Amino acid sequence: MILHPSFDTNEKGHLTVCGYDAVDLAKEHGTPAYILDTDAVRGMCRMYKRAFREHFGEDSFPVYAGKALCYKNLYRIITQEGMFADCVSSGELYTASKAGFPMENVFFHGNNKTDYDLQYALALGVGYIVVDSVDELNALEAVCRETSMDADILIRVTPGIDPHTHKKIITGSVDSKFGSAIETGQAMKITELALSKERIHLKGFHCHVGSQIFDIEPFADACSIMLGFIKTVRGRTGFEAAMLNIGGGFGVRYTDKDPEIDYEANIAALGKRISALCLELGVKKPALFMEPGRSIVAAAGATLYKCGSVKEIPGFRNYVSVDGGMPDNPRYALYQAEYTAVNASKAKDPAEYECTLGGRCCESGDLLAEGIKIAKPERGDIIAVLVTGAYNFSMASNYNRIPRPPVIEVSKEKVFCSVRRQTFTDITALDI
Ligand code: LLP
Repeated sequence: MILHPSFDTNEKGHLTVCGYDAVDLAKEHGTPAYILDTDAVRGMCRMYKRAFREHFGEDSFPVYAGKALCYKNLYRIITQEGMFADCVSSGELYTASKAGFPMENVFFHGNNKTDYDLQYALALGVGYIVVDSVDELNALEAVCRETSMDADILIRVTPGIDPHTHKKIITGSVDSKFGSAIETGQAMKITELALSKERIHLKGFHCHVGSQIFDIEPFADACSIMLGFIKTVRGRTGFEAAMLNIGGGFGVRYTDKDPEIDYEANIAALGKRISALCLELGVKKPALFMEPGRSIVAAAGATLYKCGSVKEIPGFRNYVSVDGGMPDNPRYALYQAEYTAVNASKAKDPAEYECTLGGRCCESGDLLAEGIKIAKPERGDIIAVLVTGAYNFSMASNYNRIPRPPVIEVSKEKVFCSVRRQTFTDITALDI
């Protein structure tokens, strides 16, 4: 196993993904290619579902955050696994509905849903619209009136927690483009307004603390604040929220510097804290929802590239250039996100060649990793970047008019091309 159970080596000394030889996959499907182990994705969905039922309660569900990875067959998998879904745009709603996802199990997010988005969501029968602001609430009411439809909603509240320092940054809660802050009184104001509207049915509250979080403290802090708010709302209006959605954010191990995470143990511990908080506050335990994206798909994915030129600059560094880069994975360029790379053609050779992995865009910031060590590569070797299942395909671009790679799903059962490679015709398809 290399980092995660999906990755290993075989007798040829090649990297395997879900047991398939990565060099063979690259030969058959071309490079670059996103590979996704759907058995691993299903395994995570099942773990979340089981753990939520056991530790959060019968009517609690994990909600897959499609922003991490979104295409039709993935929604089919999510449907089969009985997950709810978090969509953030009409494009994601369209993808989910085309895949036959039960739209009543969708939470529709976004800080600036257009009137079109709101109409479209209602027409598709989206389960819950997560209302971000008073403006949006009024816009939704207008759409409901026009269309004679009702809407079930959650209100997005900013609890004001810094997930990485574990501090409650009270003033920080005000300064966010998302949601309504408790501190300023705006969360209460929008709640009262929502309760006064005829076609709008308030079901509960939503918050999102952050991403790539490795322990439960920030979530427990958020629950404490949110349950306290639920209690205050009940005291003031008589409304008791039946649903609490605390967003996404469980972390994933990208390199061996990141900690291992036992998701189930975390959910169990969080469940205990929530039960204790409800008891302490005298609040009825709401149905709990969380929106994992990264932790469901990231570790199931790898991107396969072909090594092109290897350039050694004496006294500086070694550049290994691959046939992809920031168009298929912008995360290093954007966030200096660290990855583990493997020379998939020589996966059992010692990983001693220190290098910078560069892409092929006309831009010096087009890098995938710096200061990493892999087995010494040569032109034609297959280089794999691991743990690319989340926020790679979904954030890809056509910069430099480079076609997007395909998504090749692998499972014990089969290999399946679920998104085909873009062609040059695709790239110019919209040009007049
Ligand atoms: N729910 C809400 C409301 C969110 O804003 C997010 C992520 C999630 C759920 C899913 O969080 P996850 O479990 O995947 O951490 N592009 C960045 C990540 C941005 C995440 C934004 N919101 C990256 O590549 O790291």
